Amino acid sequence: MTPQLETKRLLLRGQEPEDYAVYRDFFADADASRAYGGPLDADRAWRILATDIGHWALRGFGRWSLVIKASGEMIGGCGLWWPEGYPRSELTWWIVPAMRRHGYALEASRAAVRFGYQTLGWSLVETHMKDDNEPARRLAEKLGGEVIARELFPDGLTRNVYALPRL
Ligand SMILES: CC(C)(COP(=O)(O)OP(=O)(O)OC[C@H]1O[C@@H](n2cnc3c(N)ncnc32)[C@H](O)[C@@H]1OP(=O)(O)O)[C@@H](O)C(=O)NCCC(=O)NCCS
Repeated sequence: MTPQLETKRLLLRGQEPEDYAVYRDFFADADASRAYGGPLDADRAWRILATDIGHWALRGFGRWSLVIKASGEMIGGCGLWWPEGYPRSELTWWIVPAMRRHGYALEASRAAVRFGYQTLGWSLVETHMKDDNEPARRLAEKLGGEVIARELFPDGLTRNVYALPRL
């Protein structure tokens, strides 16, 4: 059901059972996962994996698992995400700490943004993050993102909303 995308270095594929260990270790690491809802115990991490699979069934889009083509290593996730109760969809990402700053989130984002505009036919792909999440903010800016709103979200936090241009 989940379409596969390829970039120069990455395969973006649907989640598989063996991805669980990567989810478990990422969410067990408080520093790595704090900006992404962590830390979480192994049971909760498994449920996030199940949610990622279910999101595709419920919405017709979702997060992909990111696999380095050269090594087969699964290093995180990226995709389009819209949990019930949130006003609109967003581009979202997580990368395991050892694989950060290699441009993988940027590379996957470009494929995900193109998927939003070209395959899903969206008129706007956007993202948002907590004010203190500098890596995510800088990533959104590197994608050409521009702040179009400041908005109160259902979790009680107010965030800037970035419009991401067609690539
Ligand atoms: C945000 C995150 C996904 C970035 O992943 P990444 O693979 O390291 O990002 P990239 O290597 O593709 O970086 C692309 C650009 O983003 C910016 N960026 C990424 N990490 C950064 C950091 N720690 N500090 C400053 N800028 C950063 C830079 O502009 C970078 O380009 P450059 O390396 O040429 O300067 C990663 O830090 C992460 O998983 N964070 C925890 C989860 C999270 O916060 N998700 C977003 C929730 S809203």
